[in-house]
Amino acid sequence: MITQDLFYVIDCLRKGDLVGLPTETVYGLAGNAFDPQVVSRIFEVKNRPHFDPLIVHTDRIEKVFGFVESMPPQAIILAENFWAGAITLVLPRKPIIPDLVTSGLETVAVRIPNHSLALRVLAGLDFPLAAPSANPFGYVSPTQAQHVEEQLGTKISCVLDGGNCEIGIESTIVGFENEQVIIYRQGGITVEQIEAIIGQVQVQAHSSSQPKAAGMLASHYAPKKPFMIGQIPFLLEKYGKQKIGVLSFEKDYGLEKQIILSKKGNLAEAAQRLFWAMRELDGMDIDLIISELAPEIGLGRAINDRLQRAGAEKKE
Ligand code: TXA
Ligand code: MG
Repeated sequence: MITQDLFYVIDCLRKGDLVGLPTETVYGLAGNAFDPQVVSRIFEVKNRPHFDPLIVHTDRIEKVFGFVESMPPQAIILAENFWAGAITLVLPRKPIIPDLVTSGLETVAVRIPNHSLALRVLAGLDFPLAAPSANPFGYVSPTQAQHVEEQLGTKISCVLDGGNCEIGIESTIVGFENEQVIIYRQGGITVEQIEAIIGQVQVQAHSSSQPKAAGMLASHYAPKKPFMIGQIPFLLEKYGKQKIGVLSFEKDYGLEKQIILSKKGNLAEAAQRLFWAMRELDGMDIDLIISELAPEIGLGRAINDRLQRAGAEKKE
């Protein structure tokens, strides 16, 4: 059920239910992060492997200190600059965070989302919310309440309708190892924005063998249809005999089944529309989706990361 009733949503969460929660990045599948039984249901509902830890959401930095041991100076600077916002900080956890949330790691991923409804829900609770993106594991993340309702509606109490997600791709995940700042997953806050504040950081190439974040698994964010990345004219030539849907960055290829992410070539607009576009194409009467990459700067890097992983061979 999709609802706009904030108090109902808060009530559900207090009772230990799971809800679809809007954020500025993507919709989350949220539940009490302090309750291992609730957290266990999040994994079940998403069909998510237990080696893949969850992000814990709260609304105020003072509350963060209730469940993390400490914040390195660079984490404090990033929090001051980008919270509430699309950045997740990986910090040493206190024992109050159940093992299940962190997959046994001694760190916990934390974020204050920048969405007025999410913040009001969080302010009404005396516990933080564990919330992975509200999609079945491996599929495209939801950016509208309807996306959550379609895929998980029967398994959760309700979805809070917060409209279209403004950013449209997940948060940037940042860790701190031996005084080094490491980006584990690119996302809504760009590497350039982070480097402008704290200087050069390391961007970790994702590895599917030893994932620190499942967002790092090669095959992720994937539509069900085969998904190819490359030069559109070349791919059209190569697969021309099949029914093709095209996902282009800004160019109009004059095709019937085509979605242009941003006619103005605007990266923020492209990011906002990316997952919606993948879902739309997935639902069309086509055999495969072909896509080109965005320019490899700013948000384009996070967009390309998602496209490349949607295009990666499924290994499971
Ligand atoms: O924008 C977002 O981050 C959204 C919204 C709902 O906040 N959430 C999201 O969650 O994308 P999810 O579960 O789809 O991705 C969270 C990522 C996972 O890939 C997980 O492995 C990583 O965060 N992660 C969680 N705890 C971690 C830790 N202690 N160390 C490293 N990575 C961690
Ligand atoms: Mg996800």
